[in-house]
Amino acid sequence: MSVVELHKGLDNIIVKETVLSYVDGERGRLYYVGYPIEELVEKSTYEEVCFLLLHRRLPKKEELASFDRELKKEREIPKEVIDALNLMPRNAHPMDLLKAGIALLALYDPELNVHEKEANIRKSIRLISKTATLTAYISRYIRGLDYVQPSKEMSHAANFLHMVTGEEIDELSAKVMDVAFILHAEHELPASSMAALTAASTLSDLYSAILAGVAALKGPLHGGANEKALEMILEIGSPERAEQYVIDALRAKKRVMGFGHRVYKSYDPRARIFRKYLEKLSEVKGNKTLLMIADEVEKVMTREMKGKGIFPNIDFYSGSVFTLLGIPKEIFTPFFATARVVGWAAHVLEYWEDNRLIRPRARYSGPLDLQYPSVENR
Ligand code: CMC
Repeated sequence: MSVVELHKGLDNIIVKETVLSYVDGERGRLYYVGYPIEELVEKSTYEEVCFLLLHRRLPKKEELASFDRELKKEREIPKEVIDALNLMPRNAHPMDLLKAGIALLALYDPELNVHEKEANIRKSIRLISKTATLTAYISRYIRGLDYVQPSKEMSHAANFLHMVTGEEIDELSAKVMDVAFILHAEHELPASSMAALTAASTLSDLYSAILAGVAALKGPLHGGANEKALEMILEIGSPERAEQYVIDALRAKKRVMGFGHRVYKSYDPRARIFRKYLEKLSEVKGNKTLLMIADEVEKVMTREMKGKGIFPNIDFYSGSVFTLLGIPKEIFTPFFATARVVGWAAHVLEYWEDNRLIRPRARYSGPLDLQYPSVENR
C-alpha cells in the first residue's frame, strides 16, 4: 500500500468515535456528553462531571452520593509515595514531580494490571483523587511548606484548594475552583489525550496512559500556556503598557500565550466563563489589576488579529483566576493535569471498548540502498 497523504500535526484526522465531548470550533461551543459546558458549570459539580464522563450519563442522586464517598475515600496517598516525594529535588518543575509521583502511585495500586472495566473505573477514581492530593503536596513541597492532610468532608475542589493554600475556603473560592475543575475536565482529542490513547492502544495500563497524557500536557503549546500567559500579564504590569507589549510581540513574530486554538476559530467558551469568574473574584478580593491588563491584551489582540480566528483560549484568564485563589503559578499546569485525569481516563475506557493499536505511518524521504562505510572511512 502506498501512503500518499501527509497529515502534519494530524489536523482534522478522526481517530475515534466519542460521546464524551464535542468541540464546535466554528460556533465556539463545548459539550460534555451532550450537555453544554455553560449548564454544567452552573448546575453541576466536578464530582458529577467525573461520573458523567466515566459512565457517559448523569448519576441518580444515590449514585452521586456513593461516587462522592468513593472519591473521598481515595484522597490519601501511600506513605511510600510521600517519602519518595520528600527525596526529590525541590527546584524541579512540578510537572516533572507530578510525572514521577503518578509513576510511583501506579506501583501501589493493587489493580494496576487488572484490566476489567469495573477495575478500570475504580482506578480512575483513585487517580482522580490521589492526583489532586499529589499536586497539592507538590505545591507545598516546592515552597518548603508542610503538607495539609486531605479533608474527609469538603468537596473535591474545595479540598484541593485547602490542601494547596492551607486556608479555610470561602463559598465563592470553592465555586470558582469547582468551575475550573469542570472547565479542564475534558476536551476531545488534544495532544495529551491522543498521547494517552496511543499508550492505551497497546493494552498497556491506565496509569501508563495517564502518564503519557501528563507528559504531553507539559509543553507551552498545550497545558504549559497558562503559566506563560500569567507571566506575560505580570511582565506587562499595568494596563497602559499592554498595547505596546502586544504590538512588539507580534512584530517580533512571538506567540502571545493564551491566544489561538487548533479547533476554536471563534471565542473559546471556557475563556468566556473564566473571564466572568475573574471579574467576580477581582471584585471580592479588591484586586482588579490582572483583569484590567488581561482585558487590554484581549482588546489589542482582537484588533490586531482580526480575521485570523485568534481569540483567548482557556489558558488566558485561568492563570489570573488561580492567582487570586492563591495557587502558585508553578502549579497551574499540574492543576490542568489533575482536572484532566478524568477526561484522559474516560477516553481510554471508551477506546478500549473497541481497541485498535495506534500505528500511523511516516513518509520516508531519505535515500535507499546506501553502501555501508566502515567507521574509519566516514
Ligand atoms: N499569538 C500570535 N499569533 C498566533 C497565535 C498566538 N497565540 N496563535 C496563532 N497565531 C498565528 C500564527 O502565527 C499563524 O499566523 P500566520 O498564518 O501569519 O503564520 C496563524 O495564527 C495560525 O497559527 P497556527 O500555528 O497555524 O495555528 P495552530 O492551529 O497550529 O495553533 C496553537 C494553535 C494553540 C498552537 C497556537 O494558537 C499557539 O501557539 N498559541 C499560543 C499557545 C497557547 O495559548 N496554547 C494553549 C492552547 S489551548 C489549551 C489547550 O487545549 O491546551
